[in-house]
Amino acid sequence: MTRPVKIILDCDPGHDDAVAILMAAVHPAIELKAITVVAGNQTIEKTTRNALNVASASGLCANVPVASGMTRPIVREQVTAGDIHGASGLDGPTFAPPSISLDPRHAVDLMIEILTASDGDITLVPTGPLSNVAMALRREPRIAEKIEKIVLMGGAYQLGNVTPSAEFNIYADPEAAHVVFTCGRPIVMMGLDITRKVRATPDVIARVRSLGNPQAALFSEMMEFFARVQREIYGWDGPPLHDPTTIAWLIDPGCVELRRMKVEVELRGDLCYGRTSCDFFGLEDAGGNQSAEFLTKGALARPASPNAQVAVDVDAARFWDIVYETFSLYGK
Ligand code: RIB
Ligand code: CA
Repeated sequence: MTRPVKIILDCDPGHDDAVAILMAAVHPAIELKAITVVAGNQTIEKTTRNALNVASASGLCANVPVASGMTRPIVREQVTAGDIHGASGLDGPTFAPPSISLDPRHAVDLMIEILTASDGDITLVPTGPLSNVAMALRREPRIAEKIEKIVLMGGAYQLGNVTPSAEFNIYADPEAAHVVFTCGRPIVMMGLDITRKVRATPDVIARVRSLGNPQAALFSEMMEFFARVQREIYGWDGPPLHDPTTIAWLIDPGCVELRRMKVEVELRGDLCYGRTSCDFFGLEDAGGNQSAEFLTKGALARPASPNAQVAVDVDAARFWDIVYETFSLYGK
């Protein structure tokens, strides 16, 4: 058994973030060091409350600090996704009062503290806007060398979901995303290109619910709401389970196909503001798989070579097996 991956899960619960929390809390391949919360799907007050409720519902996070972070994006006006996740940010289930108290530290400070004290073996797993991660990198640049890798849900090399060009997590704080994609650390990007292939259809929901444990029941309740809204808006046969693709990859990297490419965030566009511009064919590639170096062209650092591994395909059946097997660990 290889050693568990130590992660900080930076999230904006959010139905899919909630599933990522429940998977990370229970799977032996993951050591959940902290849950840091960011404004995104809803306001920070709501995403923080949701994170405390879900961490408490896991029954496994008593020693996992949950800290609240950035209340809004670094530059742009705030956007939220109440149309998708509801007024609470996690509509559908009702929760008992949380058994976990909020850590008094700001999420950015907690992230810096954990990384600074580490041996450089911490994986950051952002599943919301990148405001906390960017602020930590700017507050204390020396943490970059302590980040083993960043496995994030965000972006797309094809269609967006909040504008035709941009995916929500990037669009909600593009400047923060630029800071992260130019930080020089290894990045794995789970974009909409693959997350749209893992939709929680009624069969998927019924399979997990059949496990009969409380966390599987919570999964089912959350997905029922998530499914109804996404069917109404997009006509999907099930809601794409975006964020847990990060956790599933950490558990079983073979479930996702990655491709190294240059990824840059559009900060100046109007129509494309917040788009991840992904050099899928290596058109601008400086050649080879050199470590990412950055050229400062004008005001912005620009990667001179591929700076990320982007998910280009997912084995959906294998992904759902990972989700099912992970939820089956509750109650064992
Ligand atoms: O675009 C999907 C992403 O935005 C997911 O992380 C969802 O939770 C929202 O944060
Ligand atoms: Ca999210």
